[in-house]
Amino acid sequence: MSEFPAVRMRRLRRTAGMRRLVREARLAPAQLVWPLFLKLEGVVTPVPSMPGVFQHPLSQAGELARRAVDLGVGGVLLFGIPDHKDEVGSGAYDERGVIQQAVRAMKDGAPDLVVITDVCLCEYTSHGHCGVVRDGEVDNDASLELLAKTAVSQASAGADMVAPSDMMDGRVAAIRRALDEAGLTHVPIMSYAAKYASAFYGPFREAAGSAPQFGDRRGYQMDPGNADEALREIALDLAEGADIVMVKPGMPYLDIVRRAKERFGGPLAVYQVSGEYAMLKFAAQSGALDGERAMLEALLAIRRAGGDIIITYAAEEVAGKLPAGGADA
Ligand code: PBG
Repeated sequence: MSEFPAVRMRRLRRTAGMRRLVREARLAPAQLVWPLFLKLEGVVTPVPSMPGVFQHPLSQAGELARRAVDLGVGGVLLFGIPDHKDEVGSGAYDERGVIQQAVRAMKDGAPDLVVITDVCLCEYTSHGHCGVVRDGEVDNDASLELLAKTAVSQASAGADMVAPSDMMDGRVAAIRRALDEAGLTHVPIMSYAAKYASAFYGPFREAAGSAPQFGDRRGYQMDPGNADEALREIALDLAEGADIVMVKPGMPYLDIVRRAKERFGGPLAVYQVSGEYAMLKFAAQSGALDGERAMLEALLAIRRAGGDIIITYAAEEVAGKLPAGGADA
């Protein structure tokens, strides 16, 4: 009785209602985080390598926040484009910096919106690296102090959560300590725990103007060939006090997502990065793919693999199409 013809897998696939009933993974707006690029001045500017993504002036921050609430997304993740860069990335921890101002404006516009800030120096340093450069190398321990300062400054401006993406060792502990000392014990850390040195970040670096001016990020981001190491990274970040851990990129690393979920449970965030987004958009533009279906499938695959929270540039377009309760991709 446990084989064909008694068993027919197609019975539960016959109608849309039946398929909906037995669907395992679902996608809901509340699980999506919408990344936004903010600049101090000027007009809204499209990012050529990411159709549908823009650099927004600060003047739009309040409006964007209200849009995010209307869409029902889980939160926004802010990246700043400063008006000047220097060796030590001082724009990252400037009280009047672009992110600090954006956070204030967004929380004013939508107090209940979860506003998450990217903690990194690469958008703010003249050399484009994620930490302080000494003798041609990114100095881990010297960077920690500046990253902690950045996180405290963002949280003091009202950020609900900070998200370090720099991949320095010990930064979660350094940030936790600094937040606590500043009386910000309630602010969680979403750590980019397993972040690979990936070619799929190309379009982001155009959007954020953060490409390294010499060398690459392989000295601090993970080698794409490694999986066990990702679990070590995640375990370390959890031990240092990370509240949410992240795997990044998404689609090429779903094996890591699955293993991380099985080993550590959640909440687990997955970043569908700029290159993944660009691939889908350009394939759709050329007519090779049904863009809408392919995007939903790619996001659903991340949920199925074990991602609880998905950071995606498609959050706005996808959330607008999903019923608030969660949907059937
Ligand atoms: C900053 C940062 C990067 C991304 C998120 N934060 C770029 C990088 O590490 O080079 C990539 C996001 C994306 O590609 O969508 N460190």
